[in-house]
Amino acid sequence: MTTSARILVTAATGFLGRVIVDHLAGQGRAVVATGRRARPEDLDPSVGWVVWDCHGTPPASLDAEIVVDCASAIPTFVKRADEMLETNVRLAAAATDVASRNRASLLICCSSMAVYGRPEVDEITDTTPTIPDQVYGLSKLAAEAIWGESVDRGEVGGQISMRLPAVLGRGSRHNFPSGFAEKLAAGAPVQVFNPDGLYNTCVHGADIAAFVGHLIDHPPTGRHAGTIAADQPMPMLRAVEAIAEGMGCRLDPEIKPATMRATTVATGVMRTLGFTPSSVRDTLLRFGQDRAP
Ligand SMILES: NC(=O)c1ccc[n+]([C@@H]2O[C@H](COP(=O)([O-])OP(=O)(O)OC[C@H]3O[C@@H](n4cnc5c(N)ncnc54)[C@H](OP(=O)(O)O)[C@@H]3O)[C@@H](O)[C@H]2O)c1
Repeated sequence: MTTSARILVTAATGFLGRVIVDHLAGQGRAVVATGRRARPEDLDPSVGWVVWDCHGTPPASLDAEIVVDCASAIPTFVKRADEMLETNVRLAAAATDVASRNRASLLICCSSMAVYGRPEVDEITDTTPTIPDQVYGLSKLAAEAIWGESVDRGEVGGQISMRLPAVLGRGSRHNFPSGFAEKLAAGAPVQVFNPDGLYNTCVHGADIAAFVGHLIDHPPTGRHAGTIAADQPMPMLRAVEAIAEGMGCRLDPEIKPATMRATTVATGVMRTLGFTPSSVRDTLLRFGQDRAP
């Protein structure tokens, strides 16, 4: 079943926002997207576009039954701690405002594994304490509180905070596998730390988009926050070999000892809500194919 609900996606000029918009539009859903820049020329013509920087009162034209919030300052672009916190609180408040004004049935939000900081555990689960070690993680935790309070106030039916690991795809950037693929494509030297340590802190953007589509068709009530990661962790060296295999590139890495503990992620709550993870190998092979030179 595919619902005909009107869906709003924020920050559709960003990597994941665009992946989600393309997926939902491809399913024939009614999508309106926002960005602080002009409409991308190659956007599906069925998608509505509203220029909005998620600042202040949302334009009255932004009516939606479901809101998917992908807007965020990220550490690559915002270096000042106060600016990071202020921006991500403001962006979360703006998306929540749209959802609340529209009495949305569902508010789906992009949080981050950064809310956990660097816990001294072998496996992060939904119940691992959230103790961010960087202001980005702190800002995402603050955003989760703002998104979720819309449900507590009875203004929004259900709210999901996806605590995302490295999200991968054709246009992904600013995470470990994306940087690794860029180096491979350029023929630059690559290093692999802790080659035997288990790795699964990644997900393909297409799997997130499919999950968003599932949530829209099977909307949960209440507020939910949880981990997301690929299935079947594999040693780091095997993982980067899968990227190289997908890209069709030769891999000749410099092997380095571990500098930090290898920590995997178990997906719990999000699985019960319908997230279907691909294996790490399939995720990275697919990503490699996306990035084949
Ligand atoms: N990609 C990952 O590996 C990853 C991992 C964990 C969590 N996440 C989360 O997933 C979401 C999507 O990430 P992404 O990879 O798509 O990042 P991205 O490509 O950097 O997209 C972020 C979007 O937010 C918008 N934005 C940033 N600062 C803004 C501001 N001050 N006012 C208005 N809009 C602003 C950007 O607008 P412009 O396009 O105009 O710059 C962009 O569209 C974010 O919430 C991110 O924290 C991503």
